[in-house]
This record gives sequence, C-alpha cells and structure tokens, in this order.
Amino acid sequence: MKIVSTIEEVRAQVKEWKKEGLSIGFVPTMGYLHEGHMSLIDAAGENDRVVVSIFVNPMQFGPTEDLASYPRDLKHDAKLCEEHDVDLIFHPTPEEMYGDQFYSYVDMDVLTKELCGLSRPVHFRGVCTVVTKLFNIVTPDRAYFGQKDAQQLAVIKRMVKDLNMPLTITGCPIIREEDGLAKSSRNTYLSPEERKAALVLSRSIFLGKEMVEKGERDCKKILASMTAEIEKEPLAKIDYVKIVDLDTMQQVEKIDRGILAAIAVYIGKTRLIDNFMYELE
Ligand code: PAJ
Repeated sequence: MKIVSTIEEVRAQVKEWKKEGLSIGFVPTMGYLHEGHMSLIDAAGENDRVVVSIFVNPMQFGPTEDLASYPRDLKHDAKLCEEHDVDLIFHPTPEEMYGDQFYSYVDMDVLTKELCGLSRPVHFRGVCTVVTKLFNIVTPDRAYFGQKDAQQLAVIKRMVKDLNMPLTITGCPIIREEDGLAKSSRNTYLSPEERKAALVLSRSIFLGKEMVEKGERDCKKILASMTAEIEKEPLAKIDYVKIVDLDTMQQVEKIDRGILAAIAVYIGKTRLIDNFMYELE
C-alpha cells in the first residue's frame, strides 16, 4: 500500500493501472476510519485496485462547525487500510487541494435545500466540489458512499447523473454499534452519559421503520411518534425529523413512493444523524 499526498503522484499511479487495464474503486473519506468506512472499502474490493482518500475538507464545514476539532489519526487509518487491502491512500493538504486562490464550485439545487442543507447551508457545495475534484484526480470506475449520509448519497448520485460523470456510484448500508448507534467519527465527542443518551436516535429510527413496515402511511403520525421518542431524552435537542421523497429530498405527507426518514439531533454539543429508507415494492 502506498500513501501519497500530491495530485501528481495519484495521477501517475492511476495512469499505470489504466495502462494495464485494471479497474479502480474509490472511497472518499475524512479519515478517523471505523467499521462504517471499512464496509465501503470492502465493497470496493470488487475492483482490481482500491483508492481511499483521507481529507478533512474545510470547504464543507460552516464557520461555527467542528473543522478544527474533527478527529484525525493517519497512523491508525493507514493500518486499517493496509489490513483491508487498500492499494493507495491519497492524503492531501488543504493547500494541495485548493491552492491559495480558488474560485470554482459545484453546486446543486432542490436536493440540497432540505434536511442537512437547511442547518448547514454551505455543506453540500463543499461536498460536491471536493468530490468532483477527487473524481477528476482519481478517475475511478466506481465510487462507494454510505447510506449513513443518505442525503449526501442522493446528492452525489444526482450530480453524477446531471453532469455526466463517467463512473458508477454504489450506496452501502449503515453500520451500527451493537446497541444500535450508527457508527460515526463524531461519536468520539460524546461523554459516557451522552453516549447513552445518543441511543435515542436509533430508537427513534427503529420505531419509525417498524410503523412503516406494519403499514402506517401517514407521515404526520410516524413523525409524531419518532419525535416523541427523542423528546423523552433530556440531553437531546432536535434539529430535524423529516420524511422526504427518496430522489428529490422534498417532504412528503403520505408514503406512496420511495422515502427517506431522516433525523438530526444534538446530544449536548454534538450533532448526530440517522435515517431509514423505505421503498414500495
Ligand atoms: P466521512 O464522514 O469520513 O464518511 C466517508 C464515507 O463513509 C461516507 O460515504 C459515509 O456515508 C460513510 N460512512 C460513515 N459512517 C458510516 C456508517 N456507520 N455506515 C456506513 N457508511 C458510513 O462523508 C464524508 O466523509 C465526506 O463528506 C466526503 C464524502 C469524504 C467528502 O468530503
């Protein structure tokens, strides 16, 4: 496994692989890797070569968000990647990615105006821009994203379709801790007391999912139950609890199509997200 930090080094390696006719799978991450990330890396193993990027992208953080404190541990990440047969880690500096002047952005309408886009107004512009740059640098055949960030997955799929990017996007299921909490690099911010309180997210998600699976189609009723479950926890403060159309991310009142039920909840100062998807047969 190679670890490189310049765009030029990635391009040189990819060029060699392409000359040999090898397929390339790509997993973009911000590092501090856990089993959620590793599940994407394992899925990317269906390609001849696997590239992982580790880059805490400043552009997708708002001015009051956790850019400075976002956890980082390249040594630990490299060990995990090695164990999971990654061929190349791309670990650039912000200067390598953005230089000292940068004026071009990839932005998206509609899908980014709901859910996390409301409370994090610059977030998806930063994600779309960095992912486009990474796709242009790595030129993968396939890229892998987690359902954990369901809106991000929908946005990336839409961007690839709208802008005719020549690769396939594969979505991978949410990986959870044994007690239900969705794995996240941000879980490390939680105190032991908050860690317990954070279980309210998965409890609310499992409750909503069960209602839908049992045939409930009225979103108001489902959302009321999910909200009530979260409100039982004094340390939890709701950012949003919503049910949206799976393709457009616009709110729906009835479950008469594929939906995403998504929640964002502050546990103390830490903002956590969770969701479930439901597709009609
Ligand atoms: P990051 O939060 O590091 O996540 C990288 C990828 O891992 C994303 O596709 C995310 O959905 C997936 N992932 C995280 N936790 C997961 C879990 N518990 N189960 C399954 N998949 C999980 O998402 C980003 O980085 C950035 O926005 C990025 C796409 C790299 C652009 O900067």
